[in-house]
Amino acid sequence: MLSLVEVVLGLPFAFRTERQQLLRVLTIIPTYNEIESLPKTLARLRAAVPDSDVLIADDNSPDGTGVLADEFAANDSQVHVLHRAGKEGLGAAYLAGFMWGLEAGYDVLVEMDADGSHQPEQLPLLLDGIAQGADLVLGSRWVPGGKVVNWPLHRKLISTCGSLYSRVLLGIPIRDVTGGYRAFKRSTLEALDFDSVESVGYGFQVDMLWRVCQKGLKVVEVPITFVEREFGASKMSGNIVQEAMVNVTKWGLAARWKRLAGRKG
Ligand code: GDD
Ligand code: MN
Repeated sequence: MLSLVEVVLGLPFAFRTERQQLLRVLTIIPTYNEIESLPKTLARLRAAVPDSDVLIADDNSPDGTGVLADEFAANDSQVHVLHRAGKEGLGAAYLAGFMWGLEAGYDVLVEMDADGSHQPEQLPLLLDGIAQGADLVLGSRWVPGGKVVNWPLHRKLISTCGSLYSRVLLGIPIRDVTGGYRAFKRSTLEALDFDSVESVGYGFQVDMLWRVCQKGLKVVEVPITFVEREFGASKMSGNIVQEAMVNVTKWGLAARWKRLAGRKG
């Protein structure tokens, strides 16, 4: 039933209410030493999209992020915590989070960084993409309207060059292939074989995207403003970049080889 406010203000509110009632949303936040950032991100997310449940996937952070997450969960029935034994990388944390969310019956599973770089206030943009029929919505820094705030030049170069390299080699029309602000439809994740995902670092994002594209599913990019963290440190490393580059090269060549072999045979 429509509330008085919705009736007075018109259709957009009705649409939003209807969408959120239809879709059960779980936002997964992976954490490793995010004790300073997590409270603010969580408060902003709960205020911006109160209907979304939250799963914090913590890799036994030495700074006590997992303990803090438990305190939030104790005071808010929509917040859950997945404790993992140790630091196994972003990819492993997300896969465990996805399995938890699918098991619990969520319709949409969202990826969001803990450090405030992904603004919770922009989550409705991603959810609208799902409501409009996308199988995967990417929050994108490199489409018109997308922005990055406070990133050093070397991070911008790694991200834009990495995206360009992947776009060309994999032949996918996506501008931001490594971004970590995403909404997956449940059926999209169900179509993938998690056991064969090989990437552990941020290359995981490319890995998942490549799998979704190969399935011929509908991927939509929506512009976001990525704001560099205020507290703590990035977990980005040379190994993470290398893993992504090696894998993209491998996948790109394998796809070309398959096409070529198909043409000959
Ligand atoms: N559980 C767990 N385990 N969480 C992790 C791990 C891990 O091993 N490594 C990183 N995280 C969490 C961080 O705590 C944070 O919430 C999120 O993953 C992103 O990590 P950052 O270290 O802040 O990433 P970034 O800001 O350098 O990188 C951003 O850009 C990348 C490249 O575009 C992120 O948006 C990445 O998702 C993106 O791939
Ligand atoms: Mn970050």
